[in-house]
Amino acid sequence: MKALVLSGGMGLRLRPFSHSLPKQLIPLANKPVLVHVIEALKALDVTEIGIVVGERPEKIAAVLGDGAELGVRLTYIQQDEPLGLAHCVAIARDFLGDDDFVMYLGDNVLTNGVVEMAREFRARRPTAQLVVHQVADPRAFGVAEVDEDGRVLRLVEKPEDPASDLALVGVYFFTPAIHEAVAAIGASARGELEITDAIQWLVESGADVQARTYTGYWKDAGRIDDVLACNRELLDGIKPCVDGEVDAESELIGAVVVEAGARIVRSQIIGPAVVGAGALIEGSSIGPHTSIGEDCLLRGTEVSDTIVLARASVEGVRSIRGSVIGREASVTAASADGSHRLIVGDHASVEVAA
Ligand code: TTP
Repeated sequence: MKALVLSGGMGLRLRPFSHSLPKQLIPLANKPVLVHVIEALKALDVTEIGIVVGERPEKIAAVLGDGAELGVRLTYIQQDEPLGLAHCVAIARDFLGDDDFVMYLGDNVLTNGVVEMAREFRARRPTAQLVVHQVADPRAFGVAEVDEDGRVLRLVEKPEDPASDLALVGVYFFTPAIHEAVAAIGASARGELEITDAIQWLVESGADVQARTYTGYWKDAGRIDDVLACNRELLDGIKPCVDGEVDAESELIGAVVVEAGARIVRSQIIGPAVVGAGALIEGSSIGPHTSIGEDCLLRGTEVSDTIVLARASVEGVRSIRGSVIGREASVTAASADGSHRLIVGDHASVEVAA
């Protein structure tokens, strides 16, 4: 079985970060979302991976290369415009050949993995097998209506009046029959080739389309609050490990990772938290649920429930919470007269005390 990872798209909901970085490279517990995705695919023994890329493909290639470091083989497939999930399948036709494949949205986080579902798909080989998840309000999702044996009867995209609470998660198992379906459908009202339309076409042509319910943590890291939630969830699973230096005046509480070359000086780190390689934390309180990227500088600062990306600095600022600070950004204390000086990029969002 091959894999197709979708890592194009606009990422509008993740601005300003997506102005300069494909959203699938946002770090969660200090690893890009895409690396978590590739690790999940490796757990299925899938190592032949096609990756659909859109704008700034070179940024993704710089991080993942040919995949060898992660133990997989990557083939990059350029999508010039985000014309939909089924369009991704169409442009990956040569790479996919006549193999079965798992399609995985490159911004999805499923911490329990889908190993059992992959095993079942390989054993039973229905035409397609969808991963669904029970949600409280299905109206924002593709929704599957399923019989008592798990066979899909109907798929509806964002129904106003959902007949089921089973939302489509961003993981799909396909046999090559999907290619005929993708070729048969037209663009939707929003101008995209929808994968739900292709699957519905299979259902209507009598194909065996199955759904299996995933019960663990699932989120698409599409908005800032979701990114922070995924970061918390992944940090909750980390194992403590100290490769960097921690001085005698510092204290690590709970599950804390201090990567090689990081230095903790007169500080308290409350786990779960990760301090990236080469970072300096001085006179600060960090965590819980905080990821500090590589080569960051945090001095005289209190940060919790936050992601600080590589090479950013924060100095003299107390109680930063629920924040994401971009690469090489600098946050410092207000001037003596208490006024705020803000140099804020396009589509950024800042909250300051009144
Ligand atoms: P979405 O999150 O639905 O779309 P988006 O990335 O355009 O985000 P936004 O709505 O904030 O603008 O896409 C799900 C995943 O599929 C994501 O990893 C991007 C990827 N994708 C493609 O690779 N090509 C596409 O044509 C589309 C629509 C999405």
